[in-house]
Amino acid sequence: MSQTQQASSNKDRVLIFDTTLRDGEQCPGASMTLEEKLEVAELLDEMGVDIIEAGFPIASDGDFESVAEIAKRVKNAVVCGLSRAAPNDIDRCAEAVRGAKRARIHTFISTSPVHMKYKLQKEPHQVLELVTQQVTRARGHVGDVEWSAEDATRTEMDFLCRCVEAAIKAGATTINLPDTVGYSVPEEYAQMFRTVRERVPNSDKAVFSVHCHNDLGMAVANTLAGIAGGARQIECTVNGIGERAGNASLEEIVMALKVRGDAMPYDSGVEATMLMRASKLVSAVTSFPVQYNKAIVGRNAFAHESGIHQDGMLKHTQTYEIMTPESVGVSKTSLVMGKHSGRHAFKEKLKDLGYSLGENALNDAFTRFKALADRKKHVYDEDIEALVDDEILNAHDRIKVVALTVIAGTMGHQSATLTLDMDGQHITTQSTGNGPVDAIFNAIHKLAPHTATLDLYQVHAVTEGTDAQAEVSVRLSEGDAVVTGKGADPDTMVASARAYVSALNKLMAKRGRGGRPAAMNAGV
Ligand code: KIV
Ligand code: ZN
Repeated sequence: MSQTQQASSNKDRVLIFDTTLRDGEQCPGASMTLEEKLEVAELLDEMGVDIIEAGFPIASDGDFESVAEIAKRVKNAVVCGLSRAAPNDIDRCAEAVRGAKRARIHTFISTSPVHMKYKLQKEPHQVLELVTQQVTRARGHVGDVEWSAEDATRTEMDFLCRCVEAAIKAGATTINLPDTVGYSVPEEYAQMFRTVRERVPNSDKAVFSVHCHNDLGMAVANTLAGIAGGARQIECTVNGIGERAGNASLEEIVMALKVRGDAMPYDSGVEATMLMRASKLVSAVTSFPVQYNKAIVGRNAFAHESGIHQDGMLKHTQTYEIMTPESVGVSKTSLVMGKHSGRHAFKEKLKDLGYSLGENALNDAFTRFKALADRKKHVYDEDIEALVDDEILNAHDRIKVVALTVIAGTMGHQSATLTLDMDGQHITTQSTGNGPVDAIFNAIHKLAPHTATLDLYQVHAVTEGTDAQAEVSVRLSEGDAVVTGKGADPDTMVASARAYVSALNKLMAKRGRGGRPAAMNAGV
């Protein structure tokens, strides 16, 4: 069944034409290797994209090879290659897509006055002749031919209609009217399709297609307007990558149709739960990061930070979510905790993370969380885990860090002033060392003398960023007893002191004497 037949027998079905591997790959810095393109093409095919524009075969041998390879690999989708209005261009494209189960040649020419005069340096009547020639040549190779009027939105309407009529007469099965420079506005774009479809006598013989660029941020809005104007094929890219400001984003279109089916009664055949996977893959292979607040696939797209929003979400997800994260392939809603998060959200977060704390421990953990959130913009799951682990691990410690001041830098010995709570007694000392950590450990040693040796001191950042919490591990051994203590804090020095003290506490517990390690008794 041809695309035309398919579209006319499914009035409400819109075809998704993905051009990530052609228009998307065309943007500076987004080039992909053959293997990467194959991986993307296979995923697009699996997720139900109808047409995959695999590349521009005449552009290079590499482009030709990847279109040819994709054509062989893709199982369900139509595989399409792009070509200009030149015989060798079209023939090369035909050769590249030959191995496809369903092949399409997409051939284009500019129709706007500015493009014809300056880019093509041709008169309108010459362009009109080329339209017939290019489509006829393409049809000599395949039955599925798409013709595009480049810069259609800045093309004079009478001329556009004459070109479209000629293209359909020559055998084009799809007519694409692109907003090449992202200049149009929704109502105008919709009207262009209505007018062309009304005025061109053979317009019912082809599927009309939208192709929008995002220069004014209206690519998706224009795309949806074009569908309202009668188009039934949507050209788009994953993550909206493409020339300049990019193309209309596939994931936004698919979800707009899904979520607002009441206002836009059209279906795409795309499996929405694969959208996140596609986004991550395209981002990884192009090394183009996805904007944090990008609709549908940005890392904040389902994150709720303000206390009011988090509270609402916990009461009913529909308060602030118009679609579920699962519907686009995100495993769960991520409540980013911050200084505005309340106790309710914190308690729920702990539940999600698998913690069940008693009232006192919860209060202590919440106080520490608030202190952390004051110093750190976003508190992630890992931060909370580190904090609560530290709290649980060290809850029954007999020795605790109360206060610490460290002087470090290039001038002289580093020093630490440390106060420990030892069985309810606050004791302070000062010590120097070869570096701030050494000074802290010497201070601990002074307050709690012991014979244990330090086997390991390790620091790791719990999350990214310079404000990340440090998680320090300290391993001590005494005789055959080996213990590891952990401490977490945004201040690496405080985390180090906590970790060392935590290890000492464990050592005491391990000795099972209910007292301090032998040598410590002498000191304090
Ligand atoms: O933006 C555009 O006009 C294009 C055409 C080649 C279809 O990408
Ligand atoms: Zn384009």
